[in-house]
Amino acid sequence: MTLRVDVLSLFPEAVRAYADTSVLGRARERDVWQLVVHDFREATGDVHRSVDDTPYGGGAGMVLTPEPIARTLEDTPGLARPVIALTPSGTPFSHAVATRLAQLGGFTLLCGRYEGFDQRILDTVVDEEVSLGDFVLAGGELAALCIIEAVVRLLPGGLGNDESSVEESFGAGLLEYPQYTKPATWRGREVPALLRSGNHAAIARWRRAQALRLTIERRPDLIERRGGLSAQERELLEEMGVVESPAQNG
Ligand code: ADE
Repeated sequence: MTLRVDVLSLFPEAVRAYADTSVLGRARERDVWQLVVHDFREATGDVHRSVDDTPYGGGAGMVLTPEPIARTLEDTPGLARPVIALTPSGTPFSHAVATRLAQLGGFTLLCGRYEGFDQRILDTVVDEEVSLGDFVLAGGELAALCIIEAVVRLLPGGLGNDESSVEESFGAGLLEYPQYTKPATWRGREVPALLRSGNHAAIARWRRAQALRLTIERRPDLIERRGGLSAQERELLEEMGVVESPAQNG
């Protein structure tokens, strides 16, 4: 099944350009996903084609008027649901959200600009709001593209190789173990000998221990979220000589 993604944006060319590139472009060629971009300026009724106006109650900046957005959504045959607005006040985006979206037949991403959307658009035609993080972007396009890329990589055939997104960060609730490639010695720094040993069981244990170590050090919140460490994991860390709690580190 081809995932359908509708994107409403005032910069359709920017969205298309990135969606044509690299992983996303190749996955579209293989019909893993399909992109329908709508410039909601096209749905404006006035000669100036204005999409924004000053905020009621005063204040800086401009607010997107509701009608062009609503009309674009209503006039699109087969528009993908749910309709997701990109706003800094939305649910934080995560691997869990990407996984949920990857299981749908499609979704619509609504990209804001300026000071954002008229609240009535969010209250009526929008099903949910998603944020990329605790910072403010000039518009939703980069957030939309991040979400599309994170979702498409999870789809069957999204990377052209179903293995690749399985073992990586966040899938198991852990950060990814360190990776090395050739040369074996680079500027005096050696690749860990174990990775060149050909002992696949030992390599798998080393990688697991490294993923745990990194996550304990950098993202103790992720360890907590998965309910701490199992007895087996504690044993593995001990065996590999990895210090267990960030407090012990320093
Ligand atoms: N638009 C502006 N800032 C944003 C953010 N942090 N996430 C998603 N969309 C946005």
